[in-house]
Amino acid sequence: MTKDQVLAILAREKEFVSGERISEQIGVTRAAVSGAVKALRKDGYEITSVTNRGYRLESGPDHLTAGSIGAFLPEARMGSVLVMEQVDSTNKKLRELSYEGAPDGQVVIADAQTGGRGRRGRSFYSPEGKGIYMSYLLRPDTAPAETVSLTAWTAVAVARAMEKVSGRAPSIKWVNDLLLNGGKICGILTELSVESETGMVDSIIIGIGVNVNQEQEEFPEEIQEIATSMAAALGHPVSRAALGAAMVAELDRMRAEWPAARADYLEAYRQLDITAGSDVMVLAADGARSAKALCINEDFSLEVEYPDGRKEALSSGEVSLRICR
Ligand code: BTN
Repeated sequence: MTKDQVLAILAREKEFVSGERISEQIGVTRAAVSGAVKALRKDGYEITSVTNRGYRLESGPDHLTAGSIGAFLPEARMGSVLVMEQVDSTNKKLRELSYEGAPDGQVVIADAQTGGRGRRGRSFYSPEGKGIYMSYLLRPDTAPAETVSLTAWTAVAVARAMEKVSGRAPSIKWVNDLLLNGGKICGILTELSVESETGMVDSIIIGIGVNVNQEQEEFPEEIQEIATSMAAALGHPVSRAALGAAMVAELDRMRAEWPAARADYLEAYRQLDITAGSDVMVLAADGARSAKALCINEDFSLEVEYPDGRKEALSSGEVSLRICR
């Protein structure tokens, strides 16, 4: 879309860019460029235009669009990043695209979800204009068992993106929650599909929901005590476009480095983890048990010890965990 391309160029350049250069770069007429600038101003972007110099982007709202995200990513990468105003669930949308042959690394990002899904059949609060709801497609040529650690790798990748953009790294609550000031700012839902003939992985969809700019009071009562946003924890808003792009870049790096960089991701995970050493409640299908979390094992499973001295390595699929304070 011309508007997104013009915005991406202006945001990338930060200086005056002539209408002629923009029109040549994206292959449209000067009139189309001027129309796009008009539309962007209507969306709340402040764009100065000076004769013989062109256009310069002065400021803009915190919109999550292909244009705003594209300002932070190479143009070619945006070819497989679909940005939507609203969708029921980005995981569901990406699943459809994967059936149609979407490539490894395909991304779907939405500004709002009407049916955001969490782990264990829960819903994920996904209001418009405040968060990032992203799904990332992987098509590794591997057996399902090899992919169990991907949720943990993703937690590291997203934490790195957050640190890059906000200056502060979140902590990780095993296995897939990112926290700031003890409140949940991000959840990850990984969904796997397997080829029935070969038993090999067909595709993996990693869904990531981030609470970015909500005020603390905005969260629904049932998650008020558990959830927070990056802005509420840091005391200032965070650019969703910059964060969304940084997440794509870090996930691209993870895709390129998986599984060879296991030691690096494991070390980073252990550094950010706040679970090991805590008293926890292990919530399994057959009930809840208290335990002491001992350490993160080499395969990213969590080693726990029960009051009777029995030890167990928990892997992500089986349980959910509450840290007792
Ligand atoms: C959890 O904490 O339970 C996991 C939440 C995962 C939410 C994300 S938002 C983007 C993607 N689409 C969904 O429907 N869910 C995931």
